[in-house]
Amino acid sequence: MSRKIIIAIDGHSSCGKSTMAKQLARDIGYIYVDSGAMYRAVTLYALRAGCFDADDHLDAARLESLMPEVRVGFRLNAATRLPETMLGEECVEQAIRTLEVSAHVSPIAALPFVRIAMTRLQQQMGEQKGIVMDGRDIGTAVFPHAELKIFVTASAEVRARRRYDELQAKGMPAAYDDILRNVQERDYIDSHRAMNPLRQAEDAIVLDNSALTREQQSAWLLAQYHKVVGD
Ligand code: DC
Repeated sequence: MSRKIIIAIDGHSSCGKSTMAKQLARDIGYIYVDSGAMYRAVTLYALRAGCFDADDHLDAARLESLMPEVRVGFRLNAATRLPETMLGEECVEQAIRTLEVSAHVSPIAALPFVRIAMTRLQQQMGEQKGIVMDGRDIGTAVFPHAELKIFVTASAEVRARRRYDELQAKGMPAAYDDILRNVQERDYIDSHRAMNPLRQAEDAIVLDNSALTREQQSAWLLAQYHKVVGD
């Protein structure tokens, strides 16, 4: 059996990181962790707890006081063999994927007390290695010593089109222009926040997947993994 490593997959929103990370984890028998889902779960909690007012102004102090009650985690779905995001005892895998949550997640993910709490949880999940984690700061802040770091990118239009198709397929349609605007806004906020902004780690391998099929991407990723573990 090959030695276990940590694989960090970072990049812009909606560039297919989670699809490729999930597939890779399945191919090599690793645990898959979607770190964005954790920020989304905190956002869902904040929305439900009334931390945003009618003008979408965020009451960060209120959320901070409630943080001890926010329990984010994952549970393995026995049928799909995939982890599902949990908020306390509730499975929120669907509820965190709405455009409403997408539209509110960046300011939540910029809060240092939220990032500190999520980073700590993520590092605990990686203690045994054998993990593929995707996000924005996995190779830079969560696992700066990850053995394999991939930085994924694709044009904003390609990414908006993918998210549009995804929501359509799930029966949650939204306007393409709204999605494109959301993708561009999140790119900006994610890259410009003070704490652990989205940026490419110096030792990350860049993958622009605008013109790649899923199969080509999976093959490329597997090759990178085998290069690192040496088999
Ligand atoms: O990957 P995603 O679109 O589900 O992520 C949701 C949001 O969470 C995204 O706008 C940025 C934030 N995020 C983050 O700040 N750090 C991470 N490691 C993962 C996601």
